[in-house]
Amino acid sequence: MRHLIDITDFSVEEITELLDLADDMIANPRRYADSQRGKILATLFFEPSTRTRLSFESAMLSMGGSVLGFSSADSSSTAKGESLTDTIRTVGCYCDIIAMRHPKEGAPMAGSLRSTVPIINAGDGGHNHPTQTLTDLLTIRREKGRMDHMVVGLCGDLKFGRTVHSLIGAMSRYEGVSFVLISPPELRVPAYITRDLADRGIPFTEVETMEEVMPELDILYMTRVQRERFFNEADYIRLKDTYILDPEKLRAAKKDMSILHPLPRVNEIAVSVDDDPRAVYFRQVRNGRFVRMALITKLLKEAEQA
Ligand code: CP
Repeated sequence: MRHLIDITDFSVEEITELLDLADDMIANPRRYADSQRGKILATLFFEPSTRTRLSFESAMLSMGGSVLGFSSADSSSTAKGESLTDTIRTVGCYCDIIAMRHPKEGAPMAGSLRSTVPIINAGDGGHNHPTQTLTDLLTIRREKGRMDHMVVGLCGDLKFGRTVHSLIGAMSRYEGVSFVLISPPELRVPAYITRDLADRGIPFTEVETMEEVMPELDILYMTRVQRERFFNEADYIRLKDTYILDPEKLRAAKKDMSILHPLPRVNEIAVSVDDDPRAVYFRQVRNGRFVRMALITKLLKEAEQA
């Protein structure tokens, strides 16, 4: 049974095929309108979501399939003490594929071990978010026309930002990509990730201000400070507005830099940036639906062939 738990579960070639399929789905949506008729997606969200859950549901509905699920642990039998494994084994009797989000790192992996249907990690704690990364990769490829030879700046909460961890894992596999990690010292990328980059000879720098690196960047990936992961509210309040991207700061950026954000946004990008042609975060949202259509299609096909 093939699952998507970590973005590196897929080879670079598989990701290229997936993005090609997503591009075709964007260009020819009618061709896929009935492609998953009779199939059921379950969305099990033990944590809040707008984009990930609804884009998965929209993806399945756009292909003629059906959806069921829950959007909080409180409305499932988890509230009565049911284990994750029992929930997954139960829901697997009602559906063909499961997308799950959970506050505990590793929960989708644990769930996949006893699952009879493909499991998609839709975000596990502060760890990984591989389907956001597929969205980011499709957006980068559509905006820049390439995946290689780029300086990628990641800014904000790089410690708890799961989208950052998955994106570094994915982009570090392309030739000529280097990273500029912009964060306060308290919110640096976890050491296991920078150690891995160093071991593989992937260039990266760690800085504390976006101004000092802005002219170098081809991509600026902004992130929210993840309030829900902090142990201490005072620390969150002290750090939450460390970075606010505004038109003044963008003056020093390349004319063709792309600004991405997984969203939701709080204060870290001023609304006045939204009309800048370099701001691609709402196109990124739209891409998320199509890349999840492609992902569901791939995993269901592989499950049938297994
Ligand atoms: N990007 C993302 O995961 O958004 P949601 O939390 O709204 O799903």
